[in-house]
Parts: sequence; structure tokens; C-alpha cells
Amino acid sequence: MTRVVVGGASSGLGLAIAEGFAASGAELLLWARNRDRLEETAERLRVEHPAATVHVAAADASCPAAAEQIAGAATALMGGADVLILNAGGPPPCPPDRTDAQGWRSALQLLTVTPIDLATRLLPGMRAQGWGRVVAVLSSGVREPLPELAYSNGARSALTAWLKTISATVASDGVTVNGVLPGRIDTARVAALDAGRAEREGRSVAEVRAASAAAIPAGRYGEPREFAAVALFLASEAGSYVTGSFLSCDGGQARGTW
Ligand SMILES: NC(=O)c1ccc[n+]([C@@H]2O[C@H](COP(=O)([O-])OP(=O)(O)OC[C@H]3O[C@@H](n4cnc5c(N)ncnc54)[C@H](OP(=O)(O)O)[C@@H]3O)[C@@H](O)[C@H]2O)c1
Repeated sequence: MTRVVVGGASSGLGLAIAEGFAASGAELLLWARNRDRLEETAERLRVEHPAATVHVAAADASCPAAAEQIAGAATALMGGADVLILNAGGPPPCPPDRTDAQGWRSALQLLTVTPIDLATRLLPGMRAQGWGRVVAVLSSGVREPLPELAYSNGARSALTAWLKTISATVASDGVTVNGVLPGRIDTARVAALDAGRAEREGRSVAEVRAASAAAIPAGRYGEPREFAAVALFLASEAGSYVTGSFLSCDGGQARGTW
């Protein structure tokens, strides 16, 4: 049974990825901050996918202790992890001329230090067994920085650089390390960002959403299951020769060729 650790697993992209693994009968450790919501998610997955085994652990990725807590839970409950999905919530929107040192410290802990620390703790087990997958949920802002998301652009870019670096270190051990860059996938986080933008610009949420969708070649926001399909491929045996890659899942929104 494949042992999978999924962060931010009670909503949106993490939840869709967890659902995909549960459907394949995996053993899962779901983590996020709110334990009640995690327990509800786990119970639903157990009922819908009886072949799956689902554990939960509550931790806050913006706390320095989170990686140790989650790696410890993965070891205690599953004996380690074969697949690690690096994902949690996003930082608050902030234009680049309004960031401050405390905001950077928080964003870097949430989006850079905790995922690197967690992967560093779980990678030795993957390398020792000669098989493993790390897939990070990143953002289109890594490729094309988003004006209102300065913390996200910067902290996720630092994580991406580390992922690329470690991918070469572990490749010969049968471990792949990749990232998926969502554009606008229809989740609670994107709804909140749209609502914030509507308020700032004195427009309705429907207007903001229609303008965003019109800027996407596909003409619509993505579904979480469409995003999860990319992550599931990268985490599969079929993805064995893809490593150090950062794939957009954005309906064609990124205009560059890489
Ligand atoms: N959806 C998109 O199109 C899109 C685009 C670019 C980037 N992203 C990024 O992708 C990630 C997932 O986004 P989403 O759209 O799936 O968001 P979402 O629907 O709001 O889900 C976020 C998940 O992460 C958990 N979480 C939030 N803060 C956390 C923290 N500090 N520590 C641990 N878990 C935390 C949440 O549960 P709790 O609240 O219980 O912790 C929830 O399970 C975010 O980093 C987001 O910024 C998404």
C-alpha cells in the first residue's frame, strides 16, 4: 500500500489530491491546522474508499515545529512515506512595496522552511528503499510573478530552487521531485482572493471572476480534480523519468514557453 503524506488536505487542491490517492487504495496521512475538519474529511474518505487507510495529524505549517510533528506522525503511523505532497495555505496578498520583515519571516516559514524541513526528514526513507515521490503545490507566480502576491512569489521561488537542487541529489535513488503550478483553480483560497480584490477595486466578485476567466485561454477556472490529476501522475510509477520539473496547470495562462 502506497504511503502518502498530503498537506492542506482538508480543502481545495490538497483535498482533491487526497481523494485521488484514496480512490487508489493508498494509506494516507492528511494534515492541516483544523483537526475537526481533517477528521470529517478522513471519515468521508474512509466511507467512500473502503480500501484506503486514512490517518490525520493537526499542525500549522507557519510554526517551526510543524515539520518535526508531521514527519514524526508519518513515521509512527505508517513507518514513513513513499509520496510526499507539499502543500498548505497561502500567505496574505501584499504588493511588493508594502512587504515587511515579519511578513517575510512568516511567509518563508509557511512556504519555504516547513516544506524543505519536512521533505528533508522524509527523503532518507525514500532513498533507502529506492523509490519515492515529492510533489510540491507551487503557484503560477513562480513563473510569472503576480503583482499582489509578493510574499507568495518570493517564498515559493525559494522553495522551487531547493526542489530543483535536491532533485538531482536524489534522482539516482529512484526518488523524483517535482512541482505543479496552479493558475486559477476553483477553491476556497481563490474565492477569498477574488473577494478581496473585488472589495479593493469596488467591483462585484462576479465581475472580478469574469475578468480573470477571460484572461485564461481556456476561458474558465480549473477544477481541483484537473489539478490533482497532474500531481497524481507525477507521484505515480508512470512519472518515473520526470524529475526536477515544474508543470503549469493553468488553462494556458502562462505565456512563456517553459
Ligand atoms: N487554487 C489555486 O488556483 C491556487 C493558485 C496558486 C497557488 N495556490 C496555492 O496552493 C495552496 C493550496 O490552495 P487551495 O486553493 O487548495 O486553498 P484552500 O482551499 O484554502 O485549502 C488550503 C488547505 O491548507 C490548509 N492550511 C491553510 N493554512 C495552513 C497552515 N498554516 N498550515 C497547515 N495547513 C494549512 C487548510 O486547512 P486549515 O485551514 O484547517 O489549516 C486547507 O486544508 C495554497 O498555498 C495556495 O496559495 C492555489
